[in-house]
Amino acid sequence: MGILAPSILAADFTDLAQQIKMVEIGGADWIHCDVMDGHFVPNISFGPLVVKAIRRATKLPIDVHLMIQDPDKHLEDFINAGADHILVHIEEVVHLNRTINRIKELGAKAGAVINPATPVKSVTDIIEYIDLLLIMTVNPGFGGQLFIPNSIRRIEEAVKLRSGSGNSKLLIEIDGGINVSTAKKSFEAGADVFVAGSSIFGADNISAATMEIKKVISQ
Ligand code: DX5
Ligand code: ZN
Repeated sequence: MGILAPSILAADFTDLAQQIKMVEIGGADWIHCDVMDGHFVPNISFGPLVVKAIRRATKLPIDVHLMIQDPDKHLEDFINAGADHILVHIEEVVHLNRTINRIKELGAKAGAVINPATPVKSVTDIIEYIDLLLIMTVNPGFGGQLFIPNSIRRIEEAVKLRSGSGNSKLLIEIDGGINVSTAKKSFEAGADVFVAGSSIFGADNISAATMEIKKVISQ
């Protein structure tokens, strides 16, 4: 059974609580928050204040994807705001083992994120310490992009790496360009967590769109 994490980046921010209700009705498992700083990625989104507001709107786990420079500085703020999971990019963090330990000490689950051009094997020596491995299936920074096809091979590679690591509880998460068709292919390749923004919040019926993706990852 796959886990579905709608990304609120594509939601209507004037009506966030209601938009979250609609994905909950559709069977969403987590809420994914994309934090962007205009430096690590070209776009700027939102910070802990919005995560705090989302915390009041839902009981679902909040998955915070930090696309920011120097994420170490902000871990506490996001966890205090209500984040259950913190995901950091390995391309940005110099002392990754230390950062992962810090996230756990602060009481959250810890994830490592890799960009599309970062080899999957780069996480070999951190895999036993993380709860989540997020494989970007688009270049981070914007919603509404197309799924990069070699992501399927990368998911399969991550599944193999997990088997050899002894960390069988590790969840393999994917993010970017996820719709019914790419979710189905990625689920078959072995992905566990599916982040979807525009295919859910861009739909006329948000609950129905959530349900449709949920269905293809529940077989
Ligand atoms: C991309 C973000 C994604 C994004 C996904 O930088 O990390 O979470 O919101 O959006 P879609 O589903 O529209 O590709
Ligand atoms: Zn994301």
